[in-house]
Amino acid sequence: MNYEECIELARPRIGKYCKACKECNGKACGNQIPGPGAKGIGDTAIRNYDKWKEIRVNMDTIAENGPVNTSLELFGKKFRYPFFAGPVGAVNLHYGDCLNDISYNDILVSSCAEFGIAAFTGDGMDGNVMVAATQAIHKAKGLGIPTVKPWNMETIRKKMELVHASEAFAVAMDVDAAGLPFLKNFEPPAGSKTVEELHEVAKEAGAPFIVKGVMTVKGALKAKEAGADAIVVSNHGGRVLDQCPATAEVLADIAKAVDGSMKIFVDGGIRSGTDVFKALALGADAAIIARPFVTAVYGGGREGVEAYISKIGGELEDTMKMCGVSDLAEITEECIWKN
Ligand SMILES: Cc1cc2nc3c(=O)[nH]c(=O)nc-3n(C[C@H](O)[C@H](O)[C@H](O)COP(=O)(O)O)c2cc1C
Repeated sequence: MNYEECIELARPRIGKYCKACKECNGKACGNQIPGPGAKGIGDTAIRNYDKWKEIRVNMDTIAENGPVNTSLELFGKKFRYPFFAGPVGAVNLHYGDCLNDISYNDILVSSCAEFGIAAFTGDGMDGNVMVAATQAIHKAKGLGIPTVKPWNMETIRKKMELVHASEAFAVAMDVDAAGLPFLKNFEPPAGSKTVEELHEVAKEAGAPFIVKGVMTVKGALKAKEAGADAIVVSNHGGRVLDQCPATAEVLADIAKAVDGSMKIFVDGGIRSGTDVFKALALGADAAIIARPFVTAVYGGGREGVEAYISKIGGELEDTMKMCGVSDLAEITEECIWKN
């Protein structure tokens, strides 16, 4: 199966909101929530996608004609490629109900681990989602990253017990979920976290702690002060605040300010191995791709995930070769051209 076939197979299964577009660029879903769209006028996801396309890559084939090494070492684990599957929660609400968060994460976590990368899992209003996600991660020998919502401390502690039992190699919190309409006025309460509160969470984590949802240098430095080991430069695919800049627009300044003191992931509209290459050139250690993995799982299950990973990985290898670099450390700002 290739990813094109997977998209065709996904279309009748993926529900009424997602159109399983050939290019997942935020246009057809617009501001459709429930559904995979963005908040407000719905153009932040589109901007995320478009801004990667404005960055061009510098070709250089006057170089050694050898194999390229795409492998990444992160928090003591080795991965085949520098990209991960992003967390997506409430799939039966936003996509089709032939899967739910439990069956979705089961397929995603095991397939990503099998094919050399790892998946982040989402958290849900239903406590069983985190229970099942952490069980799936445990089955995958800890190769997965549970993403805990910014609940109150008591709830976070309970979720962290599940995380510890899963032996997950890292754990994340999507602090920007404070902006999700459905989390407002919910019990247990969830919302923004102060540096001190995040510090508490980092201490509870018991594994490298990743703060997801940072869009400014100031935010990155606050995450660092809180003791984060990594951040995800992310605007949650436009779903938490209308009119954010694209992640490609803020990444380089954040990476420069962080200056290697934390690992940096980035997500939002990354749709090809060439985009992954650009993300690394702007200073990220790894990229995260979320929505297209949903299409992969709905369309092809384990085989769909395999097809998608090999598509993105193959494009990355090709771009590296054509830009004259042989491993990830050689992908620097010199490899890209910006207008
Ligand atoms: C339907 C849907 C549900 C999501 N659920 C979560 C979630 O539970 N936790 C989280 O951290 N991010 C969640 N996200 C955000 C994604 O992880 C990611 O940050 C965002 O979609 C941008 O990446 P993309 O453009 O590759 O999709 C969700 C996104 C979508 C579309």
